[in-house]
Amino acid sequence: MRVLITGGAGFIGSNLTWTLLGGGHDVGVIDDFSTGHLENLHPAAWSRTLDITTPGLAEAIAEFAPDSIVHLAAQTSVPVSIADPERDRLVNVEGTRAVARAARAVGARRMLSASSAAVYGEPEVVPLVETSQKRPANPYGHSKLEAESVLATELRGSGTDFASLRFSNVFGPRQDAQGEGGVVAIFASRMQAKQTPVLYGSGSQTRDFIYVGDVVAAIVSALEAPLPLALDGLDGPAYNVSTGAETSLEELAAALRLATGYHGDIDRQPAREGDIDRSALAPDKAQVAFGWQARAVFETALGRTVGWFAR
Ligand SMILES: NC(=O)c1ccc[n+]([C@@H]2O[C@H](COP(=O)([O-])OP(=O)(O)OC[C@H]3O[C@@H](n4cnc5c(N)ncnc54)[C@H](O)[C@@H]3O)[C@@H](O)[C@H]2O)c1
Repeated sequence: MRVLITGGAGFIGSNLTWTLLGGGHDVGVIDDFSTGHLENLHPAAWSRTLDITTPGLAEAIAEFAPDSIVHLAAQTSVPVSIADPERDRLVNVEGTRAVARAARAVGARRMLSASSAAVYGEPEVVPLVETSQKRPANPYGHSKLEAESVLATELRGSGTDFASLRFSNVFGPRQDAQGEGGVVAIFASRMQAKQTPVLYGSGSQTRDFIYVGDVVAAIVSALEAPLPLALDGLDGPAYNVSTGAETSLEELAAALRLATGYHGDIDRQPAREGDIDRSALAPDKAQVAFGWQARAVFETALGRTVGWFAR
């Protein structure tokens, strides 16, 4: 395969790049390095430093001439989306439109776009299925949901198959512990450095934590799926990429204490705006459509993540 990855210098994108190149595929990366890192850029990947919302995107994608596109570039921070919803919408919605148009223009076979558990908001029933009610709790969730419909508007009937992959809470090596994103990255890096981690809210709130290796495997399986993924209907092209299991932040903190040997305090602070209480996403549809399921053992994956932060 010849795969163009937007956001390929980020957490998930760099893990995907390494796996695809290791499997003998060609990889191109487009990234503006707003949250990505130069050291995440594989030397064997074709690359362009470019903001997906600026002119020149279609030309750059045409130059690489991919057969598939994995669109991961996004504004990923909930607090930033609250502080600057216009920027969030520009990158996540209009950026997706621009990438979809370029995919169509280049005649790509398939485009996969990263969506999020954030499109659902606070669930009535757990685990969530793709057709569950969508009540995003913050501008980030809204922009990810709008991006899904933009993807369908641009690509349905175009000859480019497409899917929105709704990732739950991803963790693993190369996740940025400086940003707002991953609670696992922040807890793991602080605990292994013997610094007090901050826990917002009661600690009983749950998340569906998925290891980045499983997310990468899901993307590769979706790229290779022989049948179209863009099924009919609003949620037809949407697939949860998740474990279906709920883990509380308290349980996560306990597991990370074990993995890091941290015995210190946890700084407890009030819940933050836009945070939700419970989350778990049923992964059955992805299993049926592209034969994928999460395989990592949580404690082992946490151990690998801690090991990476220690290095
Ligand atoms: N990490 C998670 O838990 C999680 C959960 C659900 C969904 N997602 C989605 O998965 C995707 C990848 O997330 P991640 O965790 O790897 O985040 P990340 O911030 O590590 O990666 C995003 C990459 O996109 C780049 N980027 C941002 N804006 C850009 C722009 N305008 N033009 C070009 N490049 C740009 C960044 O520099 C970065 O390298 C995102 O779409 C995110 O919304 C992530």
